[in-house]
Amino acid sequence: MSSDRGTVSDVDDMADGLVDGVVDGVVRDDQHVVLVGLMGAGKSTVGRMLAERLHRPLYDSDQMIEARTGRTVREIFANDGEPVFRALEAEALADALVSTTPSVIAAAGGAVLSEANRRLLRAANAKVVWLRADPAVLVERVQSAGHRPLLDDDPPAVLRQMADTREPLYREVADVIVTVAGRSPHEVVEAVLR
Ligand code: S3P
Repeated sequence: MSSDRGTVSDVDDMADGLVDGVVDGVVRDDQHVVLVGLMGAGKSTVGRMLAERLHRPLYDSDQMIEARTGRTVREIFANDGEPVFRALEAEALADALVSTTPSVIAAAGGAVLSEANRRLLRAANAKVVWLRADPAVLVERVQSAGHRPLLDDDPPAVLRQMADTREPLYREVADVIVTVAGRSPHEVVEAVLR
């Protein structure tokens, strides 16, 4: 299968079921690792572990937004609306990507919705990893409270809809696809680093 990021093996082609997509080498010293994927895929948890393991700074776009605005993601959605949140998200992602220190970047689930963000991700000196799981799996893992107002009503339906819309977008930016179902965060970290 071909993508703008290179050749990506089909998920079902992988015999060992571990790393599903291309492994275009281990993480190079000079490149960021960017985690993308739907809510509940484990981006923040895996991001923290990877940052520790690689001795790198962690940029988590939701946390950056909350630190910069002094408000929670939920408050921003409620008071200003999603477009304002998306603009803050784009800013946070762009700032993380231009960091000259190779970092681990956990990009919130909706970051790929913007064409400009996708372009930035493709152009960045980064290994972009899609942490992938079916919506049915994510619904078991995800906490709908807190920073996830979009999951307040009917999380299974919302996640299914999000998967339909976003999976092609994650695929478009991904260098590597790692399936998270049935794996501990530690195992996901190992798969990312393979
Ligand atoms: C969102 C994902 C959330 C948060 C916001 C919107 C999305 O972040 O940015 O609730 O649209 O997928 P996580 O992916 O870290 O849960």
